[in-house]
Amino acid sequence: PKGLDALAQRKRRYFGVAFDVNRMSDAAYTQLILAQFGQITAENSLKWETTEPSRGVFNFTNGDIVVKTAQRNKMSCQSIAPLRAHTLVWHSQLPSWVGNGNFTKKELISVMKNHINNVAGHYRGVPYAWDVVNEAFNEDGSFRQTVFYSTIGEEYIDIAFKQARLVDPKALLAINDYNIDGQGPKSTAMINLVKNARKRGVPIDQIGAQAHLVVGTLPTTIRENWQAMANLGVWVAVTELDIRMPTPANATSLAQQAADYKTVVNACLAVSRCVGVTVWGASDKYSWVPEVFSGEGAPLPYDDNLAPKPAYNAIVQAL
Ligand code: XIL
Repeated sequence: PKGLDALAQRKRRYFGVAFDVNRMSDAAYTQLILAQFGQITAENSLKWETTEPSRGVFNFTNGDIVVKTAQRNKMSCQSIAPLRAHTLVWHSQLPSWVGNGNFTKKELISVMKNHINNVAGHYRGVPYAWDVVNEAFNEDGSFRQTVFYSTIGEEYIDIAFKQARLVDPKALLAINDYNIDGQGPKSTAMINLVKNARKRGVPIDQIGAQAHLVVGTLPTTIRENWQAMANLGVWVAVTELDIRMPTPANATSLAQQAADYKTVVNACLAVSRCVGVTVWGASDKYSWVPEVFSGEGAPLPYDDNLAPKPAYNAIVQAL
């Protein structure tokens, strides 16, 4: 039995977690990860700044360690989804040699294709899914002015997906973003992009809803929205779930958080094409939230001491 993942598998879903090499020195935490989760996303090790820090210089050291860990885990738990690979084309954690805007359109297309060839090529056949494009949209649904958009135009998305399909035909190819959990301009833009791209033959198989959420403020239309995405014929994956709160936590905020986790898990279970849920870390101790959102934290199912929180019990109940 594999904790949350075993429960999820009874519902033909997986339950995954972001994990990385820098956490492996914590043996108790590593054990908890392997005991509870059936799918791993490398939190940082497959990002461009790590995999191609300078042009044409590729580094798969940490990525390989995470992948091996996920694969070993697969053997014991028979998870349907041992590895989500994150991410190929993103404006953030992008080395300055790519992001500095010095490439022509033709050059940047070639840089992007070469990155995809090497990184997705190195892991060919291994990931269940690749986050090919991450965070392409602004909140109002317009395209984010990244170096890729500004230099190449909207077609950078088509080019990236087609290249990824060529390189790793077995991986599901995902477009991933945050604040596309409930209905709104950003979700509408995502739905329209995926609908139109697929009409043009662009191989987008999955929409990743990051689900970085805030306790007590969940959109009321999560299920309907994910259903609308699924109705396009793509899979939906909940890829980076965490539900943050003002810190320190108290009994009330922890109870609300538990209710919110239940809402999200239930929404995925209610959408038959929602394939699984990945939390963005297991323990509050290792969450990215306090570093980025000042005064907020405690967004994960285990506390700083690796004890399960009410949120953990709520996930168990929902599954
Ligand atoms: C975060 C990691 O958790 C941090 O360790 C890192 O410093 C910054 O990136 N959306 C994403 C993830 O797609 O890659 C981000 O991960 C969180 C927001």
